[in-house]
Amino acid sequence: MDSFLIRGGHRLKGTIEISGSKNSALPIMAAILMTEGKTTLKGVPRLLDIDSMTRLLVELGCQVHRHEPADPGTVVGPALNGPLDIEVADERQCEARYEIVRTMRASICVLGPLLGKRGKAVVSLPGGCAIGDRPVDLHVRGLKKLGAEFRVENGNIIGEVRGRLKGCRMYLGGALGPTVLGTINVMCAAALAEGETVLVGAACEPEVSDCAEMLNKMGAQIKGHGTPEIRIEGVDKLHGTEHRVIPDRIECGTFMIAAAITNGELELKHCNLDHLIAVTDRLEEVGVKIERKDGSVIVSAARRINAVEMTTQPYPGFPTDLQAQLMALLCLSDGISVVTERIFPDRFLHVGELNRMGAGVRKEGPTAIIQGVRELQGANVMASDLRASAALVLAGMVAKGTTRIDRVYHIDRGYEKIEQKLAAVGAQIERVKEEKALGSLSAVA
Ligand code: EPU
Repeated sequence: MDSFLIRGGHRLKGTIEISGSKNSALPIMAAILMTEGKTTLKGVPRLLDIDSMTRLLVELGCQVHRHEPADPGTVVGPALNGPLDIEVADERQCEARYEIVRTMRASICVLGPLLGKRGKAVVSLPGGCAIGDRPVDLHVRGLKKLGAEFRVENGNIIGEVRGRLKGCRMYLGGALGPTVLGTINVMCAAALAEGETVLVGAACEPEVSDCAEMLNKMGAQIKGHGTPEIRIEGVDKLHGTEHRVIPDRIECGTFMIAAAITNGELELKHCNLDHLIAVTDRLEEVGVKIERKDGSVIVSAARRINAVEMTTQPYPGFPTDLQAQLMALLCLSDGISVVTERIFPDRFLHVGELNRMGAGVRKEGPTAIIQGVRELQGANVMASDLRASAALVLAGMVAKGTTRIDRVYHIDRGYEKIEQKLAAVGAQIERVKEEKALGSLSAVA
């Protein structure tokens, strides 16, 4: 497993191109299972999770082809990625096997499309993960309301439809609010159901809207996406289309924090700041300067930041996927900050690692109390999940000395070429293959 070696203390300055959204691309790829004819996706990032979804779609009878990039000389940025063609060739296979599901929980996205189109789905139950329990009861509840029948057998969830799914009005919220992938699963299945479905308590995340937009281009009739009430008039079939996935708002937010934590200045290109309104609000509150330019944003911070309170919430609130990264920044604030996690109350594995770097974070239930310190120190730390790993990269870039982050495959799941993007704007960060990582830290002298 690779590691990162980071030598802290370098201000970031320059331009970074934001990649297409992982969390948009994954369910969108799964939704293509419902179509006839070829779909071409643009802006799909090159990531481990995208590779896993590709493998899953191939097992489910799709032909997937990645075109060569328009400009093969480009190291990072959208030109790195040629379009992705996906076409269903064989509809007989309906199983998402444990071997793939265990590497990527988003495999659950195939449940709704398979039931809607093939009438059967066998998906290995995802189980818990580093950020806490990840139940799929709301996905199942919604699909049952459309008429699917479910049973659990040998760790698999097996769904079947007699005849065709039937639209209805349903409430989709759960104890911790709406579900993003659950909304997408039910919305996909309802797109091919008979009659009208109304999803009340739907997730409003931009990734839900992006999927709805693509389905509409394929012939679906979906309205109200982006609001808590989505209306879907079922259609008989969906056809192939061309679609560009939205920019990755979490990658963008991570680099905004990278500019702030290093007292640097970054221009982030190809982003949509409208998707980051709560993040912009919190960053401006702590003293970060954010200037919009056409399709890009310039982020800078010239001094020590203020402490702040923040609670993660469903969109348009502050995203849970940026909680760890903001916490890394707040570790260096002037005062005491309070961060409460309302989406995944156990998503705090980064706290112990940040404290190993000299941070002053105390956890009380779903809340972390952060006493700002003047500096962090480099240490050997362990990446535990995707966003926690990003927080450690941020902390490492500002810590005194060298930080070694082990198990960076977590970060490879969701950040495209992060070390190359950061190195290009002045970070001293190097990927070290397993054997070398066990050796000397002088690799980043
Ligand atoms: N929940 C239930 N029952 C369900 C589904 C969800 O109780 O059937 C609970 C969850 O346990 C959680 C809350 O509802 O407490 C919200 O979970 P949600 O279903 O919205 O999460 P998700 O759809 O599985 C997506 C992203 C996550 C992101 C969350 C929240 C993808 C592939 N994953 O997961 O992204 O944290 O929405 O915004 O889109 C990441 O990228 O690092 C990541 C974890």
